Formats: sequence, C-alpha cells, structure tokens
Amino acid sequence: MSSIVRHIRDLCSSDVSESALYERAADVIYDAAERYNWVGIYKVDEDDLVLAGWRGPRPTKHVRIPLSQGICGFAATHGQTVIVDDVRNDPRYLSCFESTRSEIVVPILASERIVAEIDIDSDTLSAFSQEDRETLEQVAAIMGTKISELRS
Ligand code: SME
Repeated sequence: MSSIVRHIRDLCSSDVSESALYERAADVIYDAAERYNWVGIYKVDEDDLVLAGWRGPRPTKHVRIPLSQGICGFAATHGQTVIVDDVRNDPRYLSCFESTRSEIVVPILASERIVAEIDIDSDTLSAFSQEDRETLEQVAAIMGTKISELRS
C-alpha cells in the first residue's frame, strides 16, 4: 500500500496537467489493491461533482452528482472521509454497480478548499480499513498540493 504514495508523489513531481493527473491517479489507485474494484476521481464544479478520471471494468452513469446527493456529495460537503462498510444499509448511497458492497470517499483539499475527491467501490463487504483511509488521505494531500500549484 505504501507504494501507492510513492507512485502518486512521482506523478505529482512530473510535468502533468490537472486533467492527466486525475486520469493517471485513478490508474495508480486502482492498481494498488484487488479489493479496489472501481476508482473514480470527481472534481468539484460549482454545485456538482464531475467525474474527471476513472478506472474499472465498467463506466458509471453517475458522471455528474449534485453536492446534495450520495456518499460522494456528503464527503465533499462535510470535508471528511466517509467509509461505508455495507452500502445496502446506507440511505445516502447512490447505486452504480449491482456488485458493490462497500465504498470509501476521500476529499482532496487545495488551498483549504475541497476541489475533488477519490471514490472507491469494492465488491467486498467492509473492504476499507484504517490503513486504507490513512494511505488514501496521504494520496489526497499530495494531489491537493499539486492541484494548488497547477492552479496558481
Ligand atoms: N456511490 C456513489 C456514487 C458514485 S458511484 O459509486 C461511481 C455515491 O453514493 O455517492
């Protein structure tokens, strides 16, 4: 898992555009664990989240999610990581894939504002541990610094 942080650091040290960063970060995160069955990076666009990069076996229909909806919207509006061990028991959950059982959403902050978030779906119940959370929060922090630089 720690190699994911190294890969993201390498990616952020390179000459990468913001849109390529989202796409390539989704690849790096997806490859980090077999439990990560679908990875998306959503970017904040006014009152919505817009899918900016993803990797997985199938596309999602949720390419634009209002900030008021879903686990994704909750994580972005509250500025906190959300882990759902069983999506079938969470009324906030917006369903994408029949096979999904658990989900983690990690906000990305740039210059103290939420600009994007990492969303991972797993087909395994309770797939996301404290270690996943800490690693993905480090990934989000590195990406947030890069996004701030790219936007300044
Ligand atoms: N499940 C998310 C929507 C995005 S899909 O998982 C790709 C949610 O509840 O916000």
